[in-house]
Amino acid sequence: MEAAALGALTLLLGALVLLVLLAVGKRKEDPEPIAATADPDGEESSAVKSSAVKKQKPDKQRSRKEKSAQHTFSHPLLAATLKAHNGNVTCLDFSSNGKYLASCADDRTVRIWSTKDFMEREHKCLRANVELDHAVLVRFSPDSRAFIVWLANGDAIRIFKMMKKDDGTMSFKGAAEDFPQKHKAAIINIGIAETGKFIMSASADTTIHIWDLRGEILATLNTNQVTNSYASVSPCGRFVASCGFTPDVKVWEVCFGKGGEFREVIRAFDLKGHSAGVHAFAFSNDSHRMASVSKDGTWKLWNTDVEYRKQQDPYLLRTVSCSSSEGSRVALSPDGRVLAVSDGADVCLYGCESGALEERLSAVHSGPLTDLRFDTTGLFLACSGDKAVRVFHNAPGHRAAIAHLGGS
Ligand SMILES: *[C@@H]1O[C@H](CO)[C@@H](O)[C@H](O)[C@H]1NC(C)=O
Ligand SMILES: *[C@@H]1O[C@H](CO)[C@@H](O)[C@H](O)[C@H]1NC(C)=O
Repeated sequence: MEAAALGALTLLLGALVLLVLLAVGKRKEDPEPIAATADPDGEESSAVKSSAVKKQKPDKQRSRKEKSAQHTFSHPLLAATLKAHNGNVTCLDFSSNGKYLASCADDRTVRIWSTKDFMEREHKCLRANVELDHAVLVRFSPDSRAFIVWLANGDAIRIFKMMKKDDGTMSFKGAAEDFPQKHKAAIINIGIAETGKFIMSASADTTIHIWDLRGEILATLNTNQVTNSYASVSPCGRFVASCGFTPDVKVWEVCFGKGGEFREVIRAFDLKGHSAGVHAFAFSNDSHRMASVSKDGTWKLWNTDVEYRKQQDPYLLRTVSCSSSEGSRVALSPDGRVLAVSDGADVCLYGCESGALEERLSAVHSGPLTDLRFDTTGLFLACSGDKAVRVFHNAPGHRAAIAHLGGS
């Protein structure tokens, strides 16, 4: 009798201890209220710091930080999650010197991140305020010392200069006058040619304006694609291209004379082969390759290293099925070896040589991706789709580079 009672008591105690342990364990796993946006508003520019983060053991930091966000995401290839914005990030751009990543959001700020911090625990950023408005698009100037934004309310381009203050910190100054309002439909993209010779702006109604750097229109194109979904300047600064409702990508060359004076915009070549509208496209950094993603359920890789003036047409290298949707984004690694395609909040990475699906990143953000970009080295892929920016290791790019070394 007594032995049985003792046994029952032991069991009960054991169960209690277990319960307590579980409860404690569970509490340890609870997300802590770490401010993801510790950057206090009203400061000129400041590093993102959180005292709560500092107190934790270093090896727990990343996962804790992740859990504190509304949207939980983890992946072995995730290198960094950049948090500072108080609104949804709509656009990303890497500076051509490779040092900075710019992000803009509807919180009236543009943030400038240091790419060399990606692998650090803390990600510092500088803040540029967009007075009485917010930026929906941001692009660095070729010298990485200025950037342009598209103003959501102003419906125009504003130039910001980045200036080093005496104490070494950076400050940002918006130009006194914005570019004139010229678009009659929603803006889809802006760009600055790497040559520094022109700025492009494109709207959904098939209009593309080519501007000089002072805000004078040099040329206006009608893409004749019914509606446009995407347009951009090639990284080499020679071409402007667009896609939309029609099943082609159209490419123009913006031509300048020997003295640097604007001459004309001429049709260079088309990418023809899709059987439905094209969501988006991307160039490799030397413009020798292009990739396009279409409603027809495929992506296509093209060799665009052609002399179109001698009637050479770009040719199709590969067609691969993929899932995509309205608003899908595409990025081609600088060396043209990896293609990233977004579909909603998912990103797929493909090897361009093989066409194989190398990585699938699911539900990366809480909303559909708004931007997707490789950095200038091709080591990282950055994307946005909520308040955070996620940076991934381009593992397929490493593998492709190694395979290339082995095979050559
Ligand atoms: C393009 O990217 C490759 C690979 O990252 C690099 O070696 C090359 O210098 C880049 N070229 C240009 C024009 O930026
Ligand atoms: C920000 O993005 C999330 C996810 O897509 C969305 O639910 C939310 O409504 C957006 N917020 C604003 C202010 O647009």
